[in-house]
Amino acid sequence: FASSVRKRAVKRAQCLFIGGGTESGKLTARERILLLLDPDSFDEYDMFVEHRCTDFGMDSSKNKYPGDSVVTGRGRINGRLAYVFSQDFTVFGGSLSGAHAQKICKIMDQAAMVGAPVIGLNDSGGARIQEGVESLAGYADIFLRNVLCSGVVPQISLIMGPCAGGAVYSPALTDFTFMVKDTSYLFITGPDVVKSVTNEDVTQEQLGGAKTHTAVSGVAHRAFENDIDALLNLREFFNYLPLSNRDPAPVCECHDPSDRPVPELDTIVPSESAKAYDMLDIIHSIVDEREFFEIMPSYARNIVVGFARMNGRSVGIVGNQPKVASVTLNYCRSLELLTPFCVLLTPGCLDINSSVKGARFVRFCDAFNIPLITFVDVPGFLPGTAQEYGGIIRHGAKLLFAFAEATVPKITVITRKAYGGAYDVMSSKHLRGDVNYAWPTAEVAVMGAKGAVQIIFRGKEANAEEEYVDKFANPFPAAVRGFVDDIIQPSTTRTRICHDLDVLASKSQSSPWKKHANIPL
Ligand code: COA
Repeated sequence: FASSVRKRAVKRAQCLFIGGGTESGKLTARERILLLLDPDSFDEYDMFVEHRCTDFGMDSSKNKYPGDSVVTGRGRINGRLAYVFSQDFTVFGGSLSGAHAQKICKIMDQAAMVGAPVIGLNDSGGARIQEGVESLAGYADIFLRNVLCSGVVPQISLIMGPCAGGAVYSPALTDFTFMVKDTSYLFITGPDVVKSVTNEDVTQEQLGGAKTHTAVSGVAHRAFENDIDALLNLREFFNYLPLSNRDPAPVCECHDPSDRPVPELDTIVPSESAKAYDMLDIIHSIVDEREFFEIMPSYARNIVVGFARMNGRSVGIVGNQPKVASVTLNYCRSLELLTPFCVLLTPGCLDINSSVKGARFVRFCDAFNIPLITFVDVPGFLPGTAQEYGGIIRHGAKLLFAFAEATVPKITVITRKAYGGAYDVMSSKHLRGDVNYAWPTAEVAVMGAKGAVQIIFRGKEANAEEEYVDKFANPFPAAVRGFVDDIIQPSTTRTRICHDLDVLASKSQSSPWKKHANIPL
């Protein structure tokens, strides 16, 4: 289904691109909208709105453009409603005037009212300098709506050019921020200001390009090759989302049998407990048609998050990644002597960045009725001064909080390690997990055998490690207590999850009344 839609979209993109676009490879604001939306589905709003600035010669007719520097309206993506704005860099660098902001606010208000996502295609030099505070007020009007719409309708930003200063906070408030490689950048102040304040020499790309924000800062969730690639991926991504918090997760036609066995899973986890394997292999083999839309694939790679379908139903997937070690630079114990001490490499551990990445994803899924499937292989939280000084306690608590408050269907599969506090955090039974499975390779324990024996026996008991492994390096202690519902053959995992999702589709669960929760920030 997705690939045939994509083929048609690519064809349309090729037709559009011939004769279109700008020298830098950027499409124009209208071309972008045409490519994002289904053919002939765009209804434009406020095409005749003009800016109201009279200073600096702005009132002359040559400085007025119908519609000003943004194109707004509504349309359909694969038949489903979306509201869109697309900033037009060819009019005053796409800068935000009072009128520009009003146009965006109008579609945001309508989107919230009817219950449809808002998609922003950002390409702007920031606040319209000639308008002063009028423009700043416009930003605040948009920010307020971003906040009010949060958790009501999905909000997506695609950065397709500059986005600087106050402009960055609207994308930051939306649910997902995507970027176009080489032509887009996001920063609060540009390289010149950085140089004058901190004396650092840095290029625009290094400071706020797609690589920086997808791999280093975690501000952006995905980067795409060019405008066309980004818009086509956005169409694909849109299919996973409900239109609003009032809708269930979308279900589309599925040609991948829900009872398809996956025999390769029976041998995927290596018998040596410390040996790596790729959690993405498990995810790909279980989901429909092997299609997985990964979110933040280059950031905090020790946790994997993204969207897929199970028997046609959208699901959010979270998995520890035993293939990726978090690297951390620890410091000497004495606070006075902050010299680099050692580099720790610990595969699959939860650390600050992976906790925050996971928590935000879980909260999005919960807000928008998307069931959560969690694959667990976690040796614990990453130890060390770097993590403790960075606040792993409050950041780790975010992921715990997110899983605990989530009321969407939650299915958990422990593939191997579920150690310590991280066992609790990863959508455990104790946090209202609906169905919790363990594979026969699961090890549910307070910590690994070596560390445990060292603490209990101080290395004096000869056979203690073996005894510990016998007792805890298996799923039975958890299963006899009902903390996992069943120990399943890995090859049946897809069948079991698809069946559980059908049953849990009518799940209803509530939490005590509150104004809002106080997640540790
Ligand atoms: N307000 C009004 N006009 C603006 C503008 C703004 N914030 N940003 C850009 N423009 C205009 C430019 O004056 C130029 O107009 P012209 O074609 O009539 O000469 C046009 O948009 C294109 O800008 P230009 O600077 O030539 O494009 P560029 O690709 O070389 O650089 C920017 C783009 C965004 C890096 C650069 O325009 C810039 O630094 N703008 C100001 C950013 C800023 O500090 N904004 C306020 C922060 S909230």
